Amino acid sequence: MDQQFAKDIVEGLSAAKKRLSSKYFYDAVGSKIFQEIMNMPEYYLTDSEFEILSLQGKQIIEAVHFKQPFNIIELGAGDGFKTFKLLEYLVKTKIDFHYVPIDISQGAMDSLLEKLHQKLPKLSIHPRVGDYFKILNNENINTDIPSLLLFLGSNIGNYSNLDAVRLLQLFGAGMKKNDKLLLGVDLMKNPRTIQYAYDDLHGITKRFNINLLLRINRELEGDFKVDDFDFYCHYSPITGEVRSYLISLRKQTVCLKKVSKSFNFDYNELIWTELSKKYALEDIESLAENSGFKVEKHFLDCKHYFTDTLLIK
Ligand code: AVJ
Repeated sequence: MDQQFAKDIVEGLSAAKKRLSSKYFYDAVGSKIFQEIMNMPEYYLTDSEFEILSLQGKQIIEAVHFKQPFNIIELGAGDGFKTFKLLEYLVKTKIDFHYVPIDISQGAMDSLLEKLHQKLPKLSIHPRVGDYFKILNNENINTDIPSLLLFLGSNIGNYSNLDAVRLLQLFGAGMKKNDKLLLGVDLMKNPRTIQYAYDDLHGITKRFNINLLLRINRELEGDFKVDDFDFYCHYSPITGEVRSYLISLRKQTVCLKKVSKSFNFDYNELIWTELSKKYALEDIESLAENSGFKVEKHFLDCKHYFTDTLLIK
């Protein structure tokens, strides 16, 4: 049994305001459902960032302005779909660099490596499977060449302001003086556009959330009846926060046999599952400042939905 998982789930369900962490969405099934989300036209984030990295690779690399060779270290590489265009540009223009994808999932890494090997056989790859905090701090991937860190896909949006600052400070601690960070951030926009991306009519995002209950059933011998829970999410254009919840549709008790615990749910009680924060460009400037970085340049898509922002220490 994964002790940390068990501990976090029990803690979250014991709290006065119940919560489950979105980081546990990504088991094998959840990662597949997330792929489906990224393929929905409503989930504009994927297309916007893909456009930025496809059309502005040259400008980004010029702004990074590194002596060759250098490293590109991707934190949470996943299947690497968006990054592919940037890598392709670099390989085609014969720029000398090493790609260091880091991901917690061996499965995602295997499919990434297979795809890259097939499509960019000349690419120099040094993959690392594991937690990127540990890898950044403990292993020396850096040697003495400069590194560009990539933290893409609006993954920063899952963190509260305070946690986002802490996270970037941690990245900063693992970076050398002239290393740079390219941060993918989803921007505030028409609230309906954001609402449709998360409260999708296909029910895929609902399935993504409900899968967490199924995962708990599997791994902690739980007896969640998934038909007794619904999904609700809400975007506030004032705070820029999408908050996602599961709702208990009846008063009920759920047992987790493996940890010998049971939890009572009230009628309509909420479990908070995810924060997906949207930023204004000024918010990114203050996030950078508060965590010891400076904004070098924002690279936006043509709709101004998303930015890949280049940060320097
Ligand atoms: C992978 C965290 C960027 O918050 O937009 C997609 C996950 N949740 N739909 C996001 C997600 C619901 C996604 N991130």
